[in-house]
Amino acid sequence: MASVEVESLPAFPFIGPDSNPFIPVGESDLNRLGGPVGKVRLPFGGWAWLMTRHEDVRQLLRHPGFSSDQYRPGFPVLNPIPPTREGASGLFIFMDGEQHSRFRRMLTAEFMIKNIRRIEPLIEETVVDALERMRAIGPPVDLMSEFALPVPSMTICHLLGVPYSDHDFFQHHSAVIMDRKSGPEEIDGALGALDGLLGELIAFKRTSPDEDLLSRLVAERVVPGELREDELKSMAMLLLVAGHETTANMIGLSALALLEHPECLDALRADPGLAPGMVEELLRYVTVVRTGLPRLAMEDAEIGGQKIRAGEGVVAMLSMANRDASVFQDPEGFDSTRREAHRHMAFGFGLHQCIGQPLARAELRVALLELARRFPGLKAETTLADVPKRHMAVTFGLGELPVTW
Ligand code: HEM
Repeated sequence: MASVEVESLPAFPFIGPDSNPFIPVGESDLNRLGGPVGKVRLPFGGWAWLMTRHEDVRQLLRHPGFSSDQYRPGFPVLNPIPPTREGASGLFIFMDGEQHSRFRRMLTAEFMIKNIRRIEPLIEETVVDALERMRAIGPPVDLMSEFALPVPSMTICHLLGVPYSDHDFFQHHSAVIMDRKSGPEEIDGALGALDGLLGELIAFKRTSPDEDLLSRLVAERVVPGELREDELKSMAMLLLVAGHETTANMIGLSALALLEHPECLDALRADPGLAPGMVEELLRYVTVVRTGLPRLAMEDAEIGGQKIRAGEGVVAMLSMANRDASVFQDPEGFDSTRREAHRHMAFGFGLHQCIGQPLARAELRVALLELARRFPGLKAETTLADVPKRHMAVTFGLGELPVTW
């Protein structure tokens, strides 16, 4: 495609209107798209197809002919990536085929609902501690830094077996990796720092194993020679990073959405059994992985009536698929009792569908229930227009959420 033509395409990623964090795509971007499947201009050069319909996104994400490997030439890169693949030997989110499933299989059982139930008391303790600390600070407080960010980071650190004293270090470096404004060198530096600490931790788990995921993977996979230590390090890094910003932004934006609908908070207090359904609708309505999921066509294919040629890039825009009127009635509205909410694709779809979703759902359910219960007079000290928005590399979230009670 000639560069002049690419210049005339709508620039991607879309940045929603500043007036409302719950509108994923502004009117002007929607008008420029001109249809459910169209071409967009990528931030680091080139173009890609954009898929926005629910069914097209499903088709794309389950199609084995599309690659997730961002190091392949022609991959539709949406975020700055480290210049080399070094240190990425276990980042299976960017792998295809057998290479991908080899790593994923090692974690499937760990993240199954029954295993997540076992750590629910710990999630509850983490949530309650953070909320009571917040109460002790006194209003107004920033719900993002005091609650939404520490809860998922403490939970994943605990699951992996990262000691409490290293928690701030992990939170800081994972934020650098996920920040769209971080340059490749900064990301490299943060990856190096995490790599160093994880190396020390793994060495420690070899001699002093405990009841945690790292210890289990060392004993069951590394020691028998099934998994290399560098692979385990980057696998752990993926879990730390993937489980942190996503869940934190979901907690923050969900709290804001519920504060905009106080009747839902009342209903939650009266009937905690409403929480799982409400969480599904929040996942749909918020869709923190707003930019979408990039893929590279490895073979000719047809998605949503559009012929896609091998070597072309495609982006599955989850936030728009989750607002598809053919699946969700009145899709722009928030309806906490929506029956079809579970059809959302906030966790992706197909081979790479989020492995941490049972954990994320448990964290969200406990966090929102306890917030409603313990802070019945909670109010946002900001408006939808004024609340600082943050467009991170992969996720969308709030810079802060000032609240009072
Ligand atoms: C609300 C919170 C979360 C959201 C919205 C979310 C979203 C997603 C999405 C959309 C994908 C698909 C990526 C792709 O297809 O390229 C994904 C994959 C993944 N997520 Fe999550 N995630 C969340 C929480 C978590 C948690 C808590 C963990 C683990 C601790 C986690 C670990 C992963 C991993 C390892 C993958 C890669 C799976 C694979 O490639 O097979 N996520 N997530």
